[in-house]
Amino acid sequence: MSVPVAARWVGEATGHLDILDQTKLPARLEWLECRDVATVVEAINSLRVRGAPAIGIAGAYGLVIAAGEALRGQFSPDKARAHVLARGEDLASARPTAVNLRWAVERALAKLSLVAADTPAADLAALLLAEARAIHEEDQRLCAAIGRHGAAILPAGNILTHCNTGALATGGIGTALGVITTAWDAGSRFEVFADETRPLFQGARLTAWELVERGIPVTVLCDAAAGHLLATGRIAACIVGADRITANGDTANKIGTYSLAVLAAAHGVPFYVAAPSSTFDLSLASGADIPIEQRGAAEVLAPLGVPAAPAGAKAFNPAFDVTPARLIRAIITEHGAIDPVTPARIAAVLARH
Ligand code: MRU
Repeated sequence: MSVPVAARWVGEATGHLDILDQTKLPARLEWLECRDVATVVEAINSLRVRGAPAIGIAGAYGLVIAAGEALRGQFSPDKARAHVLARGEDLASARPTAVNLRWAVERALAKLSLVAADTPAADLAALLLAEARAIHEEDQRLCAAIGRHGAAILPAGNILTHCNTGALATGGIGTALGVITTAWDAGSRFEVFADETRPLFQGARLTAWELVERGIPVTVLCDAAAGHLLATGRIAACIVGADRITANGDTANKIGTYSLAVLAAAHGVPFYVAAPSSTFDLSLASGADIPIEQRGAAEVLAPLGVPAAPAGAKAFNPAFDVTPARLIRAIITEHGAIDPVTPARIAAVLARH
């Protein structure tokens, strides 16, 4: 079986968005039919759809649904536009750390400024659908390019990854996991080690599932076992994705990424980040400026719904951490690898296109 897409638009501008409910994976493959913006916002916030590029794509399609709501409500052009803008803010702020979400919503909304103020809701919906589709298809191409560039520089040997950065997290083959699958498809042979990625187990539930579906050998480990694994010398490289990369190369990614980067440095194992240009936020000077999402206590105290701590215990549950640029060997983008990771190199590679 191949890995399904994270989200798909069904029909024309008055259609709906199907989201593959990732909270149910790998046990069940269920699609969530989104016909109103509130359902899309909830799906993003509760990680039914997740991964930086994928939530951007879902957010862009969410705007088409907002225009559809205005159409069904027979809103005047003024009111329809105001409705889309307001729902756009709900979508863009559904999760704070991955910049791709706001980037995609704002990119699609920018199209509205190109048409007359009296454009009816039906035409707004068509315009927004065209842009959402463009963002979706573009991400597919970017992932393929990241895969090619990354596979060309990935050292031979086993790979350790964290969280899920594959087809489920993007509009294409993925970023870090796309590099891994591209290298495998090109004939490289290795074992993938996947951190389980507590507290939501994206590594165990999603990355391992994607790799098993593709027939690539995968071994799941507790996040806490990464140091021991690296000390055994069995890992040639670590590769992860990103939710936001600042002008100096500091990278926000799933909680536990920073610990992994420190461990990789301690054992002399190269640590790579793979991400499209839409993940860069050059308006921020360093990782200290990145908003870090804090999530509910239940995710930590009752993992997968099973109580694991006594009533009365509190939880510390940041969803992301920041890896300083100095720990990153290279950032692999659709334009090639940024190596070394310096502000000048980042600006040069991103400006090239
Ligand atoms: O909370 P999640 O599951 O959305 O976090 C996802 C990650 O941290 C990924 O590594 C990142 O978004 C890159 S996905 C290509």
